[in-house]
Amino acid sequence: MSLKLIKLDAIDSTNNYLKELARNTTIVDETVVVAKRQLKGRGQMENSWQSQNGKSLTFSVLKKFTGFKIDDQAYLNYAVSVGVYNGFKKLEIKNVTIKWPNDILSYGKKVCGILIETQLAGNEIVSSIIGLGINVNETSFIELPKASSLRLVSGKDFILSEVLEVVCTSVLDALNLLNANAFQKIKTNYEENLFRKDQVSSFKDINGNLFNGIIKGVNSDGKLLIETEDEKIKAFGFKEVTLLY
Ligand code: BTN
Repeated sequence: MSLKLIKLDAIDSTNNYLKELARNTTIVDETVVVAKRQLKGRGQMENSWQSQNGKSLTFSVLKKFTGFKIDDQAYLNYAVSVGVYNGFKKLEIKNVTIKWPNDILSYGKKVCGILIETQLAGNEIVSSIIGLGINVNETSFIELPKASSLRLVSGKDFILSEVLEVVCTSVLDALNLLNANAFQKIKTNYEENLFRKDQVSSFKDINGNLFNGIIKGVNSDGKLLIETEDEKIKAFGFKEVTLLY
């Protein structure tokens, strides 16, 4: 598959750029914007996203939908995560897991971050901008002990355009399953590769209380299901719980 690529040298954020483009023009479905340098990359929870020039991949994909209900939004996240996971497998990256809600890890360290922004009409998602930051050829992460790169986990150098092609294709394949309503399959794939699933882990809740529990899966609302010490399974939303490893 050949990508519908827009290549930029430098931009504040590929998500911002694609959002503006989609607002002002009729842009083709599955357009991908990739930037060599991102000056103001955005991460989840209003964080910034730093990337090392020439070593990282920063790009955004526009995906249009028809008949995709807001209530099913969680599956969009599951599909993108599974798509990146599949792409990394194709690149022969080992020990890949998905840390809820959507960090992609290798050997327990983050190699890819995902920022999904949706455009709504009524109760439907009409399109989404899926921003991916992939650590590819970095050899060190000063002050980021929980980060790693494809190079660090595999010992190999990668050609950025090849990683882009493989990961984008896998993400689009997974997203196209969404149109076929294969929600359950996507959720199962996501859960099969969930970081620390079925292991006792430590968590912090929204009030700062620490507790132990076991990740059992996710639900259709995008919440993480944790079996707590009283053997009850509780559902936690984004921001309601932090996995402390
Ligand atoms: C995270 O916090 O884990 C999400 C990081 C997402 C970063 C990517 S880089 C390309 C796209 N443009 C942005 O400004 N952010 C996303």
